[in-house]
Amino acid sequence: MIILKKRDLLISFLLLVATAVNAQERVTIELTKGWKFSKGINEKAFENNFKDSKWESVTVPHDWAIYGPFDKEIDKQSTAIVQNGEKVATEKTGRTGALPYIGEAWYRNQFSVPNFDKNKKVILLFEGAMSEPKVFVNGQKVGEWNYGYNYFYFDITNFINSNGNNSLAVHLSNLGSSSRWYPGAGLYRKVKLIVKNKESIDQWGTFITTPIVSDNLAKVNIKTKVTGENLCIITKINDATGNEVAVDKTDAIFGNEFEQNIAVNNPHLWSPESPYLYTAVSQIYVDDILKDEITTRFGIRTIKYEANKGFSLNGKVRKLKGVCLHHDLGPIGTAINKAALRRQLTILKDMGCDAIRSSHNMPSLEQLELCDEMGFMFLAESFDEWAKPKVKNGYNRFFETDAEKDIVNLVHATRNHPCIVMWSSGNEVPDQWGSEGVKRAKWLQDIFHREDPSRLVTVGMDQVKATMESGFGALMDIPGLNYRLPLYEEAFKKFPQGFILGSETASTVSSRGIYKFPVVKVHSKQYPDFQSSSYDLEYCNWSNVPDDDFVLQDDKPWVIGEFVWTGFDYLGEPTPYDEMWPSRSSYFGINDLAGLPKDRFYLYRSRWNNNDKTLHILPHWNWEGREGETTPVFVYTNYDSAELFVNGKSMGIQRKNNSTPQNRYRLMWMDVKYKPGTIKVVAFDKDGKAVAEESIRTAEKPCQIKLEADRSSLEANGEDLAFVTVSVVDKKGNPCPTATNQLQFSVSGNGRYRAACNGDATSLELFHLPTMKLFSGKLVVLVQSTQETGKIALKVSGRGLKEATMLLYSN
Ligand code: GAL
Repeated sequence: MIILKKRDLLISFLLLVATAVNAQERVTIELTKGWKFSKGINEKAFENNFKDSKWESVTVPHDWAIYGPFDKEIDKQSTAIVQNGEKVATEKTGRTGALPYIGEAWYRNQFSVPNFDKNKKVILLFEGAMSEPKVFVNGQKVGEWNYGYNYFYFDITNFINSNGNNSLAVHLSNLGSSSRWYPGAGLYRKVKLIVKNKESIDQWGTFITTPIVSDNLAKVNIKTKVTGENLCIITKINDATGNEVAVDKTDAIFGNEFEQNIAVNNPHLWSPESPYLYTAVSQIYVDDILKDEITTRFGIRTIKYEANKGFSLNGKVRKLKGVCLHHDLGPIGTAINKAALRRQLTILKDMGCDAIRSSHNMPSLEQLELCDEMGFMFLAESFDEWAKPKVKNGYNRFFETDAEKDIVNLVHATRNHPCIVMWSSGNEVPDQWGSEGVKRAKWLQDIFHREDPSRLVTVGMDQVKATMESGFGALMDIPGLNYRLPLYEEAFKKFPQGFILGSETASTVSSRGIYKFPVVKVHSKQYPDFQSSSYDLEYCNWSNVPDDDFVLQDDKPWVIGEFVWTGFDYLGEPTPYDEMWPSRSSYFGINDLAGLPKDRFYLYRSRWNNNDKTLHILPHWNWEGREGETTPVFVYTNYDSAELFVNGKSMGIQRKNNSTPQNRYRLMWMDVKYKPGTIKVVAFDKDGKAVAEESIRTAEKPCQIKLEADRSSLEANGEDLAFVTVSVVDKKGNPCPTATNQLQFSVSGNGRYRAACNGDATSLELFHLPTMKLFSGKLVVLVQSTQETGKIALKVSGRGLKEATMLLYSN
């Protein structure tokens, strides 16, 4: 009881704050605190009046499964992965991350509604709930939503207790064999309460497009769906500095929708290089009384897909330099966190990446907001399955009944984000086979068109031959090919669109800092340590190395870009070790699960980042026991040629050339014999002048700990994160690339230890415990702010090492 009272006080306080910062007409309250959570009790618990005093107190967003422990038995799927060409079923252990996501759970909270009266409407909004949420308010069921990745809301006005407290209860249920990767579990995205007048703008009721754009004029089309009689709308457009640049008023309503066309002079266009954002402030009046006001951010830009010309943004043809991302954030699981998302995008920006594909489901709204702000184009995907299953309990169970409403919510909730340049209705769906699938493809694409005529739709197709024969590929707005490089030409000829998207490319596998000998290009290679080589020459039987994609991207004007699988490693799908325990996370990432760059990061950076120079050497140079053995040296660079020196002795000059895809994009010295010391590379400009150099030294034994934070100043909001890279160096300060020391972490002051990750796909150490081994000499510690401002100290220690402390600030 006491707990309840305290919670109520807190809620009232939150309500006060929320009311103070919002216009009176509309109040949005994030339900983050005061949640009680219990796992393992079934839906019936509800009938026993919830004895929740012993339940765990949690904050939302929350992922109940990320705390582990990892367990080989969890969701052990005995299956033949057909899309990977497998014919015989084998046991796949870490396929969904070996984390305890399966089962039922309840979340409960209390809330009150400020100034509730008969003129108010109350919306309860979930930005995602994993999965099959059933929602109850004051003991009555208000609704349910099957798909764990989607945003949904209920009008709960008729369920509200006008005086005082309301109880909210959410039941979630995750079945085994429901996913091909770690899906997370729980209320992993935000839950919001929106209190507004009955006469108001509908949820997701605005739709802003910019159908005509020139240098000196943009036509901004704004459709606004409303509820109420005798309404009038005023829409003001503000530029990025908040200055009003246009305003329009109308009372001409068609059905329940206003439509305004507003001229913006000399518009600043949105692009990845210049992500300029306007806001539209929509106000609804009845008899000059303001009833509702919302602010919608948007961008002015044009997108076009044309035969033989390709994709253009604001009239300029360009190729998408994209990566696919799963939704988990490594060591913090799927619980959405803006700081973690921002860090991912900052890393990708430095690589020169300009596009993201949310594979294979709806992106978080936070990710879209950041892409709008930081400048990334977005391919927003919906499904990994239609009616035909990939996993027994996947979306196939809901497809017939839910697909339309799932697409409607995806489009309505996200369509004003300028970053979204195309939709995807599916990924490698088994429905690519058969005539029913063609009909489904058309049905889904038509729904997207109906809801958003301003964007085109793709499907990531892997059964390219089948889609050529059935008409599936021909009907897609944008034919997307997953891998299948040898079929690009044929697809371009046979499909009518006149362009092809590499909707999924590469799937090269590697482990950060691990190199295997001899160095050969090979698929499906396995090693006894369950790691893959970072020479970036290992791939799957359906995929390829990056250079093979580069050739098509560079030589075929009709290829409109690529989305590399994947930007970061993710939990689950540990190919090529999906039958090997303890592998539990992917090897596909350009960056590892901790967000640390693998060598491949620099290969993409050397192509994609046109503003900065890249000169990166691999492998490391600590090969005790391999003296005199062949140890190839690769350099990833945007310089055309370079000379390599081993302990001062020249190994010759290498120049990029067209003899093989690898020689075209990498500089490679294949015959270098290992000798401890220093390797140095000197790069030349077009005139043969030495312009840059890099070197790596053989390190002695680990001596001291080194800490580097991605940022030292945090926001005191209880959510912000600093990512501190921890490494060890020898007594001269050289990084120790093979160190595996066990380290301990402690955080004091106004912050807390959140998690650590070393990027080792076979590690069973738990992320939230304050100790972990280094992997290839590195790991990352996440320090979280509290709501107190002040200093935060992170101390890292390890046996035999000089410890290190880092000060962070929370403001
Ligand atoms: C693709 C699939 C992805 C992932 C990838 C691994 O076929 O679309 O979800 O499984 O393979 O290479």
